[in-house]
Amino acid sequence: MTDENALINFQINPKRLDKITADIIEIGFGNGDYTVYLSKKFKDKKILGIEISGESINKLSKKIKKENIKNVFYIKLPATIAFQLFIEDNSVEAIFINFPDPWPKKRHHKRRITTAEHLLLFAKKLKKEGFIQLKTDHPDFLDFSIQEAEKLNCFEIIQLENPEESIKTKYEKKWLQQEKKIFIVRFIKKSEPNEPTSLTIPKIKKVNYMPKLKIKDFVDFTELEGRTFKIEPNLVVKFFRSFERKNEEWLIETLLVEDNYTHYFFTYLKKLPDNSFVLSVSDFSEVIKTEGVVKFIKWLSDIKEKNKEENKTYF
Ligand SMILES: C[S@@+](CC[C@H](N)C(=O)[O-])C[C@H]1O[C@@H](n2cnc3c(N)ncnc32)[C@H](O)[C@@H]1O
Repeated sequence: MTDENALINFQINPKRLDKITADIIEIGFGNGDYTVYLSKKFKDKKILGIEISGESINKLSKKIKKENIKNVFYIKLPATIAFQLFIEDNSVEAIFINFPDPWPKKRHHKRRITTAEHLLLFAKKLKKEGFIQLKTDHPDFLDFSIQEAEKLNCFEIIQLENPEESIKTKYEKKWLQQEKKIFIVRFIKKSEPNEPTSLTIPKIKKVNYMPKLKIKDFVDFTELEGRTFKIEPNLVVKFFRSFERKNEEWLIETLLVEDNYTHYFFTYLKKLPDNSFVLSVSDFSEVIKTEGVVKFIKWLSDIKEKNKEENKTYF
């Protein structure tokens, strides 16, 4: 089995992956009907579904198994994070986004999947002539998306009327029942995008190792339960329950917010024969290896020293 085959039909475990190759990507696939449709329409292409909802992942997974589909795989992550960490530049032929949340309130517009920041990230990953296809029932969202795409100066923008697709997504059916008009727009990449200085893509960086630190002092996880600490402006940790295992091993449930991504894992401490300790992320945690996780482990390793030096009450 080649590496490529190994990805097919499996939920990708981001912990074990460096890069994902995909010809076609669907963002926010919902019940997965459109992903299945893409897999049949483009039989020779590798199709990646990206979703944040576990329920959606389960639905697509069942459909793939039932229909014995071989060219679809999926990952459970926010799209911007998956693109940033795992997708190669200039590698994708098409990105489909069907009926994304329109976030109608003005103060929520920055959450839209089609802000210039997000489109910049997607555009970088597209091959030349590759495209983003957006379907929506929301005229204001459509106009916003076109205006944001124009800022990057890299797309030919075309609107498609009544595209001949034999499939209607769940949300499409819903809006058609309410007699809403459906809009489709394609952003076709013609050149590399402008990177206006005002645009910032989240800065999460991947590393290729998991931090494992040998430390002298015991860190009492029970004292951390329920506490929140700001390690850096964009790196915040919150601790939940801690557990002691029989053989001098301890775990604490950890939520680490790095830029706009939330890691959830167990931090692990084990006593060594020489009475020192090893501090790391537990092996069964599906954590992505990022700089933030490394910084967190380093920060935790000398939390007592910091406490003394800075006279701050970390504990
Ligand atoms: C309104 S539903 C549309 C579902 C489907 N495309 C359809 O047309 O029926 C939006 C979907 O996008 C997913 N979603 C929202 N934000 C996302 C993100 N940042 N990355 C990936 N998926 C996301 C949601 O979980 C949800 O399934």
